[in-house]
Amino acid sequence: MQKFVSLFIFLPFCLPAAPATFSKDVAPIFYQRCVTCHRPNNIAPMSLIEYKSARPWAKSIRESVLKRKMPPWFADPRFGHFSNDARLSEKEIDLIKSWVDGGSPEGDAKDLPPVPNFAEGWQIGKPDIVIDIGEDHKVLPGEDSYDHFIVETHFKEGKWIRAAEIKPGNRRVVHHVHVLLVQDDLTKMEAASTRNMPSLQQFLIKEGKLTHIRQDAPVVNDGCDANAPDLPFLHGFQEGGLAAFLPGRPPDIFPDGTAKWIPPGAKLEFVIHYAKIPGKVETDRTSIGLYLAPEPPRIPLRRMDLRNFFFQIPAGTAAHEVKRCYTFEKDTLLLSFTPHMHYRGKDITYDLIHSNGKRETLLAVPRYDFNWQLVYRLRDPVRVEKGATLVVSAHYDNSPNNRANPDPAKTVRWGDKSEEEMMTSWIEFLEPPLPAVAETGRR
Ligand code: HEC
Repeated sequence: MQKFVSLFIFLPFCLPAAPATFSKDVAPIFYQRCVTCHRPNNIAPMSLIEYKSARPWAKSIRESVLKRKMPPWFADPRFGHFSNDARLSEKEIDLIKSWVDGGSPEGDAKDLPPVPNFAEGWQIGKPDIVIDIGEDHKVLPGEDSYDHFIVETHFKEGKWIRAAEIKPGNRRVVHHVHVLLVQDDLTKMEAASTRNMPSLQQFLIKEGKLTHIRQDAPVVNDGCDANAPDLPFLHGFQEGGLAAFLPGRPPDIFPDGTAKWIPPGAKLEFVIHYAKIPGKVETDRTSIGLYLAPEPPRIPLRRMDLRNFFFQIPAGTAAHEVKRCYTFEKDTLLLSFTPHMHYRGKDITYDLIHSNGKRETLLAVPRYDFNWQLVYRLRDPVRVEKGATLVVSAHYDNSPNNRANPDPAKTVRWGDKSEEEMMTSWIEFLEPPLPAVAETGRR
């Protein structure tokens, strides 16, 4: 009798809960967290929109979310909070796990949430203005290349834009894209494109469409060293471009109340990195969608690009340090960071040293991965006082233990090619008059 009673009491707890289904439990997670990449004709190998295309991947999905390989996200959780933090909650992971462990059932299609609408391939809806590179560009088999396309906006008056989305014309070959505003006087333009950096030219060598630094250029690994020679772009910052498309990067949506200005008569320069080109001719016609701001912004959004062009990574080193500093000349509100290195990039950290000496880590990326060029958007923008210094410290793994390393026997310096290296950070910011922090939109 005793036995019977206890069985009776515990039975309800042993009954399995209704198994998680795709339609009811898992699709809402996928639609919110995965399908910006996992949909037809996008960067991921399979679509997670429909049960049919998701089901065969169930085991692999279970593993990749349990190991937190997916969605890609690399910020050390000990530092900073980010509005675009892609990490799944424990609850979401549990739901996906129990769906797979329960045989990955479809459930009732009536429970499906509405499928997110990707208007004609645009992630943020139909743009007000679309401008493309102006030609069906032929990409020939062979080496990587960086191609530049300068196109007219035909804008009779200037425009404020609240967002910009770049749509690669051919994802098989387009690795990443920068769109820059071109001014007539190129010497005033010191944005991301090296053709517009006259002071740097003496240190550069152009080979076909690619550029790299001369092997005999001065070496400065510690760009924060007060005794370092005064070389181009080791101090101050470069104006950032208008928008970018990088693997894993969401479109550029500017915070509420801010916008970027495109002056009348402006031209746009598309800088397109064509990579991993297959053995046949491909055609590309990449475009940018511009979204107009409803009114002039209270504060124009800006981007500072910090680079060190003069590092030298010795062959075989496992953690070679390269640094770059910037001391703020005005009170500034920092909004986001985008680190950029290539295959040897190992880790990168952004520390702020306040004028009172206090050191604060704003972002640490302990396992950088070239395949993912993520932006880290600060949930609470950081207010920086004039005189504070941002210290960017990166490490490069040029040893044979780095599986992505194209050649550990090479000494590596700055260059366009993925097999060479870069040390770049884009930082979105606002300058005075600064808004109350709470007013800057969370994106
Ligand atoms: C930012 C874009 C992006 C997001 C968001 C994303 N993925 Fe991925 N995913 C990719 C890409 C690209 C690949 C292929 C390259 C790779 O495996 O790294 C991939 C690979 C995978 C794979 C491995 C496929 C294989 O070859 O074994 C699985 C499983 C997966 N994703 C599941 C998910 C799930 C589930 C989510 C959401 C919870 C998600 N991903 C979110 C881009 C993304």
